[in-house]
Amino acid sequence: MSNVPTALSSLHWRLLTLSDLDVMEALHRLSMEGMGPQMVKPESRSFLVSLLQGRGSVIGAWAGSDLVAYGVLQHDLLPEDDPRHHLGLSAQQPLAKLAGAAVAPTWRRQGLQRALVAKRVACAGNDRVLFATAAPENTASWHNLLACGFTVRALEYRYGGFARYLLVRDAASLLLHNEAVSTGVGCELDGAALSEQQALFLQGWHGVLPGSTVGSLRLLPPPVGVR
Ligand SMILES: CC(C)(COP(=O)(O)OP(=O)(O)OC[C@H]1O[C@@H](n2cnc3c(N)ncnc32)[C@H](O)[C@@H]1OP(=O)(O)O)[C@@H](O)C(=O)NCCC(=O)NCCS
Repeated sequence: MSNVPTALSSLHWRLLTLSDLDVMEALHRLSMEGMGPQMVKPESRSFLVSLLQGRGSVIGAWAGSDLVAYGVLQHDLLPEDDPRHHLGLSAQQPLAKLAGAAVAPTWRRQGLQRALVAKRVACAGNDRVLFATAAPENTASWHNLLACGFTVRALEYRYGGFARYLLVRDAASLLLHNEAVSTGVGCELDGAALSEQQALFLQGWHGVLPGSTVGSLRLLPPPVGVR
């Protein structure tokens, strides 16, 4: 890819295995330093083990022998984590979750998380609906998901009562991205106006693009005939 910055083009990518558990856990802890659970969910070592043992795939970016970033694609979900019913999807709809990403502090702001989202989208295939959660305050995280075709569908209180956007990538989200880019219409709400955002999500609106001020979100009504 010609638009990959030079430092990123020197990285190599491979799926993590159980033998990478310690480095994965170390990067998870390092990436969260200074961030509370309102921003990012701290994961247990046993959850990371379960991912590496087959509940998901974890793609890692390596600089030599150093793991500098990883992203999780989880397909084996707990019932309480499964949004199919909430989204009006059948239980047979293939689905997977982008269930966490970490970038080493010295490698940030170069597009690595966005590359990790794009790689997991490609890896999931076309028939799978994808979803992720992101704290409204974690703008880097949800901006990257919006840039890769996800839209914000709901505001939920998860992981001990912390606000999280539910972001989904499906036919409706891709349709609305095209509409937002071609028409420039929509309604912009401030990041502090979460209850107003929530009222629109409940009417089927999607958060499609970052707004013009820090933390704000541009929303569009649902496409006709599709929620
Ligand atoms: C969130 C995180 C993964 C971002 O990684 P990254 O590789 O620096 O992100 P990217 O370079 O791909 O980000 C690109 C976008 O995010 C923005 N961004 C990145 N870091 C940012 C920050 N600290 N504050 C505000 N915006 C930020 C960039 O400006 C860019 O947005 P733009 O294209 O609209 O300008 C990284 O900060 C991290 O590991 N955080 C701790 C763990 C975490 O929050 N994981 C995600 C939730 S599970």
